[in-house]
Amino acid sequence: MKSSKTKSHNGAHHNGMSKTKKSAVKTKSNAAEGLRDLFEDELKDIYWAEKALTKALPKMAKNATTQELINALEEHLEVTKGHVERCEQAFELMEKPAQAKKCEAMSGLIKEAEEIMQSTEQGVVRDAGIISAAQKVEHYEIASYGTLCAFAKTIGENEVADLLEQTLNEEREADETLSRIAESSINAEANDEDEDENELEDVNSNKTATAKKK
Ligand SMILES: [Fe+2]
Ligand SMILES: [Fe+2]
Repeated sequence: MKSSKTKSHNGAHHNGMSKTKKSAVKTKSNAAEGLRDLFEDELKDIYWAEKALTKALPKMAKNATTQELINALEEHLEVTKGHVERCEQAFELMEKPAQAKKCEAMSGLIKEAEEIMQSTEQGVVRDAGIISAAQKVEHYEIASYGTLCAFAKTIGENEVADLLEQTLNEEREADETLSRIAESSINAEANDEDEDENELEDVNSNKTATAKKK
């Protein structure tokens, strides 16, 4: 068999500048490196998104009417500030500078939320629109953090994965809270409001049932 001490390959050994092509053997570690890069890139993306949300959520809360929704948005604002911090901790754990990169998707979702708020009358209909926009945001975050957690585990960053999983759970909670608020009152009231406009009268006559006594 060939001795391992023979000349390597026929590539010339120039001084410095020549970069030899990476051989196929390296594919695997390149792929791992690629996933790490992708992870870092997506972390920068969600970091930007979280920071943008700390500005968008107060506007949404200010535009909302239903107290339960206002509370939920304000509460999620505080939680979101924690998400920003967790992103920073994740960068720190990976010994990388915390860097934000504009997330076009979140930018678009926030823009949509603003459009909804502008195109609806303040009240339950706008509230329903705010919930719809906020849930799209949460779903984007859930998808992002789900992926980030999976990537972090794959590249062996378990501490980072645990950290981001906490955020993932909080996004899920926020999504559920918004669903509950929408289903418990706002959607039905928003629908009633539409019916009010269409039928003008007769809606309040339903209230007689509430006076029922044993
Ligand atoms: Fe978040
Ligand atoms: Fe969120």
